[in-house]
Amino acid sequence: MLYIAADHGGYPLKEELKRFLIEEGYEVVDLGAEELDLADDYPDFAFKLAEQVSQDEDAGGILVCGTGQGMCMAANKVAGIRAAVVYNDFTAKDAADHLNANVICLGGRVTDAETAKKSVKIWLDTDFSEDERHVRRLRKIEEAEEE
Ligand code: RB5
Repeated sequence: MLYIAADHGGYPLKEELKRFLIEEGYEVVDLGAEELDLADDYPDFAFKLAEQVSQDEDAGGILVCGTGQGMCMAANKVAGIRAAVVYNDFTAKDAADHLNANVICLGGRVTDAETAKKSVKIWLDTDFSEDERHVRRLRKIEEAEEE
């Protein structure tokens, strides 16, 4: 399952990405915001999405705020979440094949819609490399999470 959520800083881009992904044939669950609300708070959406993704190892999540950074900070507090900020082809590919990111975070105020769509597609279409060095590095993060 593919989840998407945004605060007011990411709401317009979230709506564009959702339309794009549905057109591409993905089933997308929108966890809000349901409308542009300048008073909403990105951690509320980040935690809601991260909880869903953390319960299903096949799930992925897309979080959009103004910069992607606040969402990423919050999502990574949830055990089992590997959230990465993505803003071009390289970071999108790296998020998948090196980081095995199950959540990507984009900035609606810093990344244009075409770049964002391309980045999301690259992340979705790229598998984790399974290289020993990447598995080892991610294991170190998991160990810190377990302490
Ligand atoms: C909200 O104004 C803004 O701070 C938020 O969307 C985001 O950019 C945080 O990283």
